[in-house]
Amino acid sequence: MKEFSIVIAGGGSTYTPGIVMMLLDNLDRFPIRTLKLYDNDAERQAVLGEALAITLKEKAPDMEYIYTTDPEEAFTDVDFCFAHIRTGKYKMRELDEKIPLKHGVVGQETCGPGGIAYGMRSIKDMIELIDLMEQYSPNCWMLNYSNPAAIVAEACRVLRPNSRVLNICDMPVGTVRRMSQIIGKTPQDLDVRYFGLNHFGWWTSIKDKEGNEYLPQIRDYVEEHGYLTQVEVDTQHMDPSWQETHKKAKDLLAVDPRFLPNTYLKYYFYPDYVVNHSNPTYTRANEVMDGREKEVFSTAREIIAKGTSSGSEFSIGSHASFIVDLARAIAFNTYERMVMIVENNGAIANFDNDAMVEVPCLIGSDGVEPLNQGKIPDFERALMYQQVTVEKLVVQAYIEGSYQKLWQALTLSKTVPSAKVAKEILDDLIEANREFWPELK
Ligand code: NAD
Ligand code: LMR
Repeated sequence: MKEFSIVIAGGGSTYTPGIVMMLLDNLDRFPIRTLKLYDNDAERQAVLGEALAITLKEKAPDMEYIYTTDPEEAFTDVDFCFAHIRTGKYKMRELDEKIPLKHGVVGQETCGPGGIAYGMRSIKDMIELIDLMEQYSPNCWMLNYSNPAAIVAEACRVLRPNSRVLNICDMPVGTVRRMSQIIGKTPQDLDVRYFGLNHFGWWTSIKDKEGNEYLPQIRDYVEEHGYLTQVEVDTQHMDPSWQETHKKAKDLLAVDPRFLPNTYLKYYFYPDYVVNHSNPTYTRANEVMDGREKEVFSTAREIIAKGTSSGSEFSIGSHASFIVDLARAIAFNTYERMVMIVENNGAIANFDNDAMVEVPCLIGSDGVEPLNQGKIPDFERALMYQQVTVEKLVVQAYIEGSYQKLWQALTLSKTVPSAKVAKEILDDLIEANREFWPELK
């Protein structure tokens, strides 16, 4: 089998060790000759980079491995770039969450004003990564799961329409894993139909390979428990705030019981509830910094101090095995069926062609083929049109340096009550993001 060369962009990410361990666990399906980590924060990446050097020497001594901040070294001779960067890191995520909350509005990483702020920061870096990839390895594919995925995907569509970038989100994957547990199946047993935008969609069918429909059975369960399941099936989304989110899915389902909702809809359907249940001085960013970040970096420091990974191994990010499925689909033309973020072009029959939507696709060596999801009902279509317009306005605001358009984006967001509040939040966000955003006029 061919062996691949991979660069992980965002090498200092808390997800990097889990993904590397997952890759090691999948070498029989996806052989790797070279693995590189790339980050623009040398110090942060070095901690994980050194610990992984020790781990890889013990577990995969034949694999060539480096970590670097030099783009040429990182992007030369690579087949795949797995991208998970966070422009501004947790310090800025914290502000994305706390600034809106100060104004009584949802403070969230990808939804509402926080997502808009993060989007404005991410576009430049994502486009730079794509350009580096194309400069040094023109045939490389980027599998991008950097957030806010909806805005990043729209920016790629507008600014780099012909680039080999595949945008994917792990939330549909994680939720289907939960659904499979609810009905006693595995995710591999199931094919779904799904429509929406990233962090804004609905499942319309969950079938096994024999064609049996499980949506009614899952709906009965979700009506009572949301997506809360007994066993840890979705190891990434386990913190208390996530348990709360899985439970809340029952109230999302109540709004339209025909379809199974994406959990992120809670920020749009119940923003008042979310604000009332948020602690404006301790948000998800704090939970992640005190939890995942501490855990991952202290394991890395332990490995470095001991000079061996034995006894303090990184855990396998098995939730991320979808990345291997996606890379394999491209590499071996497997026609894997996965939910992806793609330009609509008729996949949702009664929605704009140029909207970046989230739908099931077949993936092969030529890229992604969206599967037709037919027409969608007015309620969902109207919500999606509002939200996709927010995302488009953000990208336009970024390109044109337009204050007006960004104010419109915030005003249009279903999470923001008025143009006045939108303006107040925007002015605070501009202040906080001076180092990252283009100047707005
Ligand atoms: P993190 O802050 O721990 O890691 C992000 C890394 O990206 C940092 O080391 C930072 O220095 C680096 N970075 C920032 N800008 C960069 C640039 N221009 N070039 C190279 N590196 C750059 O964040 P995290 O919580 O681990 O999340 C990383 C990203 O992955 C986020 O966008 C997050 O939303 C997304 N994400 C990934 C998964 C997954 O399963 N892999 C799941 C959810 C979210
Ligand atoms: C993260 O894991 O930090 C996010 O990307 C999603 C979450 O858990 O809030």
